[in-house]
Amino acid sequence: MLIALLPGDGIGPEVTAQARAVLEAVAPGLVFEEAAVGGAAYHAEGHPLPPTTLDLARRADAILFGAVGDPSCDGLERRLRPEQAILGLRRELGLFANLRPARTFAGLEDASALRPEVAGAIDLLIVRELNGDVYFGEKGRRATADGRREGYDIMSYDEDEVARIARTGFEAAAKRRGRLCSVDKANVLETSQLWRDVVTEVAADYPHVTLEHLYVDNAAMQLVRAPGQFDVIVTGNLFGDILSDQASMCVGSIGLLPSASLDSAGKGLYEPIHGSAPDIAGQGKANPLAAILSAAMMLRHSLAMPAEADRIEAAVAATLAGGARTADLGGALSTDEMGAGVLAAL
Ligand code: IPM
Ligand code: MG
Repeated sequence: MLIALLPGDGIGPEVTAQARAVLEAVAPGLVFEEAAVGGAAYHAEGHPLPPTTLDLARRADAILFGAVGDPSCDGLERRLRPEQAILGLRRELGLFANLRPARTFAGLEDASALRPEVAGAIDLLIVRELNGDVYFGEKGRRATADGRREGYDIMSYDEDEVARIARTGFEAAAKRRGRLCSVDKANVLETSQLWRDVVTEVAADYPHVTLEHLYVDNAAMQLVRAPGQFDVIVTGNLFGDILSDQASMCVGSIGLLPSASLDSAGKGLYEPIHGSAPDIAGQGKANPLAAILSAAMMLRHSLAMPAEADRIEAAVAATLAGGARTADLGGALSTDEMGAGVLAAL
């Protein structure tokens, strides 16, 4: 099995190194091939997603991705910015289904921004659509009739795109607690009204899953009021981006949430939901657990090694239960020390 290792920018290389070490410990047969991506690739090769990197991603059985984002690239035209690398991979590889699980680890209730008894109840999965929405619509700058500058980004979903991600959501809910919450803004957006109509139609094929609809503003409020009510949340690209960062702080730290981005055949890119965190890059302070948990998702969803995935998740839980804390969790462990703790607990 070939794993494309794309460490990227900022803390990406630090955290993916730990995830790789854990993968090598539980699945010794994996072959890793590394390539540059994001700002690192721009500086080395003049493009955030060089053809050799895209080719490796296509050839690989799965992709382990770190993070992209580099303040030194902020002034570049949009097509050369680091973020275009991850957007390009998602689009080129057809990675439309983004799974972002969030659950509170025992002993970490106090790290949450919420009261411990509220945080302790969190065990949810955000299913975020990743190939459409305002992210990939026509965008640009233009002049208004009276010569002022105007920016625009077109939001759209067609019915097939909605039905496809709705099925991912229903199927995930069927394997969990059987409850799906679809999040939209149908009271204002036509895109969202179509979303709601199509999700409701698809529900007919999943009679054992209970479907509810929430407007995104209400969903954001419910996520901090009573997050334990959610099982699976299915939503569009933009709302999913926002709600998943919010869910991470409900759990305790953005350094804890992994993700899988899957195509229709189950091939996937696995990345922590956090970004490149340039403020702490290179200091050995980053929490590697989101990357390590992403590696576990890779074993489960793309490599058919669920037992190994369980081992990693159990080792992470045991490490946290033993009191291991990086700076984001109020502790002083380094990235390497946290990684070593998980290796020892395997
Ligand atoms: C994420 C990130 C990306 C997104 C950025 C880096 C383009 O925030 O994966 O959540 O907006 O999707
Ligand atoms: Mg995000």
